[in-house]
Amino acid sequence: MTKKAEIKEPEKNTFRQRLKDNMDELKWLYMELYHDENAFKYFISMIRKNYRERKVSLRKTDVERSRSNGWYHHSEMLGMMMYTEAFGGTLNGVREKIPYIKECGVNYLHLMPLLDSPEGKSDGGYAVADFRKVRPDLGTMEDLEKLSAACRKNDIMLCFDFVLNHTSDEHEWAKAARAGDPVARSRYFFYDNWDIPDQYNSTMPQVFPETAPGNFTYFEDCNQIVMTTFYPFQWDLNYANPMVFNDMVDNLLYLANKGIDVFRLDAVPYIWKQLGTNCRNLPEVHKIVRMFKIVCEIVCPGVLLLGEVVMEPKEVVPYFGTPEKPECDILYNVTTMCTIWHTLATHDVRLLKYQVDQMKDLPKSCVFQNYIRCHDDIGWGLDYSYLGRFGIQETSHKKYLNDWFTGKWPGSPSRGELYNDSAALGDARLCGTSASLCGIESALQNNDGEVLNKALSADIMLHAFMFTLSGIPVIYSGDEIGMLNDYTYHDNYAKKDDSRFIHRGKFDWDLAEKRHEPGSLSCALYSQLLRLTKIRKENPVFHSGAYMYSFDTGNNSILGVIREYKGQKLLGLFNFSDQWLRTVIENNDWEDLTYKDSFYIKGEYPQTEYWLEPYGFRWLLAGDIHNK
Ligand code: GLC
Repeated sequence: MTKKAEIKEPEKNTFRQRLKDNMDELKWLYMELYHDENAFKYFISMIRKNYRERKVSLRKTDVERSRSNGWYHHSEMLGMMMYTEAFGGTLNGVREKIPYIKECGVNYLHLMPLLDSPEGKSDGGYAVADFRKVRPDLGTMEDLEKLSAACRKNDIMLCFDFVLNHTSDEHEWAKAARAGDPVARSRYFFYDNWDIPDQYNSTMPQVFPETAPGNFTYFEDCNQIVMTTFYPFQWDLNYANPMVFNDMVDNLLYLANKGIDVFRLDAVPYIWKQLGTNCRNLPEVHKIVRMFKIVCEIVCPGVLLLGEVVMEPKEVVPYFGTPEKPECDILYNVTTMCTIWHTLATHDVRLLKYQVDQMKDLPKSCVFQNYIRCHDDIGWGLDYSYLGRFGIQETSHKKYLNDWFTGKWPGSPSRGELYNDSAALGDARLCGTSASLCGIESALQNNDGEVLNKALSADIMLHAFMFTLSGIPVIYSGDEIGMLNDYTYHDNYAKKDDSRFIHRGKFDWDLAEKRHEPGSLSCALYSQLLRLTKIRKENPVFHSGAYMYSFDTGNNSILGVIREYKGQKLLGLFNFSDQWLRTVIENNDWEDLTYKDSFYIKGEYPQTEYWLEPYGFRWLLAGDIHNK
């Protein structure tokens, strides 16, 4: 880039200045891990090269975003996650469907992995063979750039998976390693015998105990044992090697320069391995994530990091880092997600209430990605020490939840399938779409109107609760129109052993067509979600920085929460049971404010007593509110 073409940035926001500001910490972290001056020199020249290659328009956005602190904290954020092939066929197909995405109110689009990944050994795209090539059946890098430009034009941020823990065994590094190249082998974990793998195995839990048992795989052709924590075709990268870190940062910046706004750091807790540990969430992981963040702050400060930390609650929050030294900008609210389903199956809100209050003291810079369903299974990572107070035991409770959601439990309308049902561990997880888990599928099959109404209400109520939480709500594509489980994966040799494909079906455009037809199921769901979306976007009380806490509704099946933000107040009531329930609100603070409106009963006067229908909810807004 010539001097002439360089854009004028305010003094403090130049690459040079940003590098200077962050150099000490960056170098400190780097040298602590790698002790290698030359590698560091190369690293700095590599990030500079990427900055030079960054388009002027993207640099401008970077500066604008970094000027407005918390530009992704506002209540207008709404996300949707989807598979390119399922939704639009190709990247160009997705681009053509932007009007639908906008109609849903979505301004944050997460496209599931779409880089080159070998068919039949791809783990849904999470085995990347080339970080700089789009999967040919989905399009090209140019198509990705066109899509990101179209999204930008429509004020939609694009989120993209960055699979950093491993590569596909068909990545050029892996192929060279397999062929015996020692430099390539040093990028992975290669062993001649089982001595060290056995030592690792003695402390390292398994990720896929049933679908891909073990953490290592023996490859006969090269007579080597390779660390493969996930599937045997996903080879773990060795981040103790600075070459791996340098090249992966280079790959991330290359993609950032294609216009990606948010990187989902896939399986990030696993990236550092240490004998004698469980190889998860080690301190080095945090150093590496912090370095990724610093690099983004220097090269592309408008780019955000979303951490995929599907771990027990105490391990999740540290990935935000501190307000002074942030790591991830956004984290999945995985604990709340699985607690929501637990609450639906037990009709008991106590754990959810407890969790709402635990989150209230987190710094406001912590933004969660809230969701009900995503492309993965639901693992029952609940707070069992809290549940123990009510006599709930982990193993039997997991079994209960799985029985409930697979419809085995008497009276359960749910239709899900187990995932990694390991008899040895008694630790099966669960798959299914929101609609099928809520009971819509079985109600339709049995032609049972009463169950259908309840299931529909439950589905809407769960979304309403997700919209009430602080952070960015993300809808799983298809949930907005009530898509059911897709059982066709049973007949696909490459998918049949992985029940997560039950909720990764092709988007049903016929069902979507009906979303405006009153009386149709998709309309019933879609119109309500749209209405909630509109209220959420128009009212700053949903801002991530709002103060949110629970209150006692006097009923263990009704969750009561309050949000407060800049003169607005929201009171939310959520009935997690299948019965009509009554609650009395005795909240003095609430009565101080002029009551204006509520979600369903517009114009109704304030009252202290509420009757909530099965799985019903209320949003009561006070203060300066909007609900046109
Ligand atoms: C993440 C993805 C999951 C994938 C795994 C391995 O957890 O969400 O789908 O199987 O990483 O890459």
